[in-house]
Amino acid sequence: MSRRICTVVGARPQFVKAAVVSDALKEAGVTEVLVHTGQHYDAALSAVFFDELGLPAPAVNLGVGSAGHAKQTGAMMVRLDAFLQEEAPFDALLVYGDTNSTLAGALVAAKRSLPLVHVEAGLRSFDRRMPEEVNRIVTDRLADLLLAPTPTAVANLRAEGLTEGVHRVGDVMLDATQRFAERAAERVPLDALTGHAPGTYVLATVHRAENTDDPERLRQIFDGLGRLDEPVLLPLHPRTRRVLGGRPLPPNVELRPPAGYLAMLTLIRHARRVVTDSGGVQKEAYWLGVPCVTLRAETEWVETLHGGWNRLVGADPGALVAAVRQAPQGPRRPFGQAPGGGSPGRCVASLIRALC
Ligand code: UD1
Repeated sequence: MSRRICTVVGARPQFVKAAVVSDALKEAGVTEVLVHTGQHYDAALSAVFFDELGLPAPAVNLGVGSAGHAKQTGAMMVRLDAFLQEEAPFDALLVYGDTNSTLAGALVAAKRSLPLVHVEAGLRSFDRRMPEEVNRIVTDRLADLLLAPTPTAVANLRAEGLTEGVHRVGDVMLDATQRFAERAAERVPLDALTGHAPGTYVLATVHRAENTDDPERLRQIFDGLGRLDEPVLLPLHPRTRRVLGGRPLPPNVELRPPAGYLAMLTLIRHARRVVTDSGGVQKEAYWLGVPCVTLRAETEWVETLHGGWNRLVGADPGALVAAVRQAPQGPRRPFGQAPGGGSPGRCVASLIRALC
């Protein structure tokens, strides 16, 4: 009998991860029903990813939109539960990462006794003030199959007593970066995005609540960006744009609309430095060989810190400027590979097939 799983996605990074795994699930003979929670609804945060990545159109969009955490997560749960009831039976439910869509999927699966698969299990910042950290901890506690990207993630799970159903599969975002880097170079070359030459600009992103919702932190970050010698390209999450309002920005900072996935790969690859508070962008910079400066006090992706390829500066402008000027101290160490060097996406699909 054909296996049938429901995949829940809702936010930008999940579309990227799902694109890789969806292909592999098809190859493995698993039927996937894709549910979009509607957490991200702007075309620049959602539709463009489906177009570029060849992700199948979702079977349904739950249309929850933006709201406080409880209201947003609750609305997702109610609508997802009704969808699963109507469309049953499913053999498992698949979630990615650490967003409110992940948490809603995990809770609904657990309440319906549907086997739960968590891709990107075991990531921890050890800061429970981050909504993502709460989402990760709860999702991992409930998951039947915990698919971890790195040995660090496996060790984090072990430290919480979670060993059953845990597999290291590699990082599906590495899979995506490798698969789409070539397509990005062909379809979205740098000169189609900016007049700046390769290696002459800094690429920055700022979207995390801890940075956008604290006016003093945001002011400090822009102070630091303004002190850099290079032009700073800043594709902006709509939330950050709203918080900034019409406030004057340093003259070297160029605001842009949010970038699609391929444009982002191109912009990262040719940047002199990347400055970001995104988890995914830290990894993409590392894999593409661009030194990164992270606008947070900690990172879940500790492997990127090796050799100074990623430096944590919080919102401190002086530290930001110093870190951007520093070069890495040695070669990068590969991380995120699947055991045996295969495709992380295929590894995920074959474990799901065995579970169903
Ligand atoms: C979410 C994830 C975060 C992830 C990010 C990727 C949670 C708790 N956070 O953060 O882990 O790194 O996605 O981009 O799930 N908004 C729009 N248009 C949209 C979506 C959001 O304007 O299409 C604005 C709204 O003002 C909204 C705010 O952004 O209130 C925050 O959106 P939300 O989905 O709650 O979190 P993100 O910051 O996008």
